[in-house]
Amino acid sequence: MLSDSPFRHNWLRLGVEILASPNEKKRSGIGLNLLILKVKLTCSVQTKLLRSAHLADLLEEDLGTWRRTHYSVDINPNLNESEIIIMGWVSSIRDHGNIKFLTINDRFGQIQIALKKMDCSKAVLEKTEQIKEHSSIAIKGKVKSEIKAPNGAEILPNEIKILSLARKASPFLIQSRKSVGIDTRLDLLALDLRRPFLQSLFNIRNTVMDSCREFLRKDGFMEVNTPKIIATATEGGAALFPIFYYEREAFLAQSPQLYKEQLTMAFENVFEIGPIFRAEPSRTNRHLSEATSIDVEKAFSDYNDVMNLLERMLSHAVTKIQENNKPFLEYLNITLPDVSLPLRRYRYSELIEMLQNAGESIKWGDDLAFQKLQKIQDAKVDSFYFIFDWPAAIKPFYVKPRSTVANECESFDLMYKSLEISSGSTRVSRKEELVERMKKQGLNIGAFDYHLKVFDYGVPPHAGFGVGMERLIMSLCGVENIRDVVLYPRDIDRLSP
Ligand code: AMO
Repeated sequence: MLSDSPFRHNWLRLGVEILASPNEKKRSGIGLNLLILKVKLTCSVQTKLLRSAHLADLLEEDLGTWRRTHYSVDINPNLNESEIIIMGWVSSIRDHGNIKFLTINDRFGQIQIALKKMDCSKAVLEKTEQIKEHSSIAIKGKVKSEIKAPNGAEILPNEIKILSLARKASPFLIQSRKSVGIDTRLDLLALDLRRPFLQSLFNIRNTVMDSCREFLRKDGFMEVNTPKIIATATEGGAALFPIFYYEREAFLAQSPQLYKEQLTMAFENVFEIGPIFRAEPSRTNRHLSEATSIDVEKAFSDYNDVMNLLERMLSHAVTKIQENNKPFLEYLNITLPDVSLPLRRYRYSELIEMLQNAGESIKWGDDLAFQKLQKIQDAKVDSFYFIFDWPAAIKPFYVKPRSTVANECESFDLMYKSLEISSGSTRVSRKEELVERMKKQGLNIGAFDYHLKVFDYGVPPHAGFGVGMERLIMSLCGVENIRDVVLYPRDIDRLSP
């Protein structure tokens, strides 16, 4: 038996080594009984550590020539009697005496392995004795239709390969939605991602990413990638992360803003899905230091055109989730928010009035902070809606002032309840006006020379927006903490994993 040989030796070897050590007794200055106790304790700790390492050494095998023939979703009663190879990780083990069931998960779902102790080979049975939940395994076997099995079929194994043995029990229950505290989960995020709750969220996120790409490409947009190491700030409000760049100071990009605008000169309609970096010293459930943004810029357009574009993109994403992610929506037990178009649109000043009527102390020109918007308990703002025509002073320098009302600008935010999902605007496309806006906002014009000089060569009128991917997923899936919809979150407290 495996359990006797290497470990018993190890126990004895260590014991003998320590007892034989001539200095041990002298150094420790303790009596024989205490020494024996110490030796035993040392040995048992060592043995436990070595036990898992040895077990793994003895049991783990290479993939070799084995290759998966089917995913879990492909297994059905029509494959009855077929020889197949499946691979995945063990999500549950149930022993009923004369029959044992393993559930194997792969990226598409689950499949049941039935080990009938009378029919199974000794080698297979012995291996399964050692398998713990989460181990990665491969199974060669026969499909058998079984009405009680999840897919109407199960696998009767002929051979099992343990590819990677789980050495520890998981700190999370796989089927649990809430699980343990977020910090424990984030410390082992890759493991936590095996939970169907996160699997559902990230599959939906994947669909949203795909569907936005597909929508924008079909609408004539070119996908671009712009530098993330930059020389100047673009978004007034959010702080920058400075970095060492050879002999100079540089920053991580808050937004591809200035590049996407410049690119409208050559490519007219561009988009980028990439990281944005914001030094956010606050600890909230909706801010990250590194987020993903869907940035869009369109030539010969204004803010009304891109608001229309954004709502169509949102509606397309929702349709695609409904088409492709039914099981995930069912697991999450959510109904997607209503995105009947056109979305409701409120002027900024209208909402200020609404807040004042709700007893808020707020005046025209103030930002519509999250906390204040939460106070509006009104059906008007219970789903997605736009707020447009913001005060010019609280929007960045590149946003075009309205020609008729000088202190307002052609800008909008897409909101979900009180959460900002996106902001966008018509941009200033004339150089003199841009310089004036920069001066008004107290910016160092010299630092933007590289950008301003492009405006000597006929930058077309253009407009665009940036959508925060994580916030979009939060709003679609009813998630409260942004850290649940991003892989490896970065925030003021967290830089790893
Ligand atoms: P803004 O600064 O409003 O606009 O950012 C656009 C969207 O990005 C998301 N977002 C964030 N998400 C998580 N954590 C953060 N710290 C964070 N900061 C921003 C939000 C926000 O609406 N250049 C403009 C866009 C444009 O006009 O094209 C910009 O960056 O969902």
